[in-house]
Amino acid sequence: MGFAALNARVAGLLAGVEEVRRQGAYILGRIISSSSEPLIRHKGKDYINLISNNYLGLSTHPKVKKAAEEALRTYGTGMCGSPLACGTTELHAKLEKKIAAVFGTESAMLFAAGYQALLGTIQGILGPGDLAMVDEFAHRSILDGVKLSGAKLRAFVHNDASDLSDQLRRLAPKHEVTMIIVDSVYSMEGDLAPLPDLAAAAAAHESLLLLDEAHSLGMVGPRGYGLMDHFNMPGSAQLVSGTFSKFAGSCGGYTAGSAAIIDYLKHRSSPFIFSAAAPPATVAGVFKAFELIEEEPERRKALRENTVFFRGLLAAAGLRLGGNTHVVPLRLGDLMLAMKVTKSIFENGILASPIMPPTVPVKDSGIRFGIMAMHTRAQLQRTAEIVIGACKEAGAA
Ligand SMILES: Cc1ncc(COP(=O)(O)O)c(C=O)c1O
Repeated sequence: MGFAALNARVAGLLAGVEEVRRQGAYILGRIISSSSEPLIRHKGKDYINLISNNYLGLSTHPKVKKAAEEALRTYGTGMCGSPLACGTTELHAKLEKKIAAVFGTESAMLFAAGYQALLGTIQGILGPGDLAMVDEFAHRSILDGVKLSGAKLRAFVHNDASDLSDQLRRLAPKHEVTMIIVDSVYSMEGDLAPLPDLAAAAAAHESLLLLDEAHSLGMVGPRGYGLMDHFNMPGSAQLVSGTFSKFAGSCGGYTAGSAAIIDYLKHRSSPFIFSAAAPPATVAGVFKAFELIEEEPERRKALRENTVFFRGLLAAAGLRLGGNTHVVPLRLGDLMLAMKVTKSIFENGILASPIMPPTVPVKDSGIRFGIMAMHTRAQLQRTAEIVIGACKEAGAA
């Protein structure tokens, strides 16, 4: 029966995909033939790029590319083995130190991807008998990490510290280690986690607090150092993880924390131990990207101004938006409507990603726009006009 069961599963999922394809609304997994800049090339045509997380535009920054090229010449293309068993380079050690300095922690470690950083940090620290309190909209890497750890998973209402506290009061005493895990900026909601309230709940219930800084580091806070910088609450989270695939426009992930915890993780976290270290060229480029957070604060300022401008245009047309950051979710409330509008704007030269289940509940289906510091006002204005027009035509505005 094994193959029949698998065949039924495959056919079930693909029937849904096929239906979307049949309607001509399938827009996932495109082949892109340019770098991730405000204009992006697909099948020989340029599109205004709102699908990217290259918020600061560092993936093509000349200094980042130069650092990566130099490391490529010295070290070749990869590390060819586990960081624990086969070691890393001075570049990896230097980047770890930089990350610890940015978050004000004693130590930090690198992972080959942000997904692995979350997975590996949670699996490394939690186990059966422990409790993970996770925001209901936290990233999939967090949920998968808890599953891998064997800890009990409990969701709390999005950004609701009083629901979190109520549950902690009942559940924390029944578990050994408790960890609260949240995104700093929510990747589909575009809002910030309420750090002061979360940190207070964590302290009251002797819980660890782990922040996923994926969409926050580099973009949020007066110095660009993320959520703790934004709220001026250094040291309020014991653990910080994240990715280099957003602010640094690259690949890889990290976790920062106390020296003991990071050393412990390096000897216990499966996604760290059983996966090759990040390539040196990537690490060198990311180190330069960290320096550019400090050296070029004007990128952060431009991102903020572009965000306010674009949000203002859509809101003025009566469209329903979530959050208040550079992640701009347009809520349409219907899956097919989201696909239809995404396809229509694509045909008019705009690339943006639909938001749909299982990433969000059906009612939150819509389109996600990722703003970049380098978008011109004309590009954002044109995007807004096309989006508003497509929504009107589809009966969504
Ligand atoms: C909130 C969040 N956490 C973690 C990740 C994983 O990062 P990476 O792409 O480096 O695996 C992502 C990326 O999609 C993310 O949005």
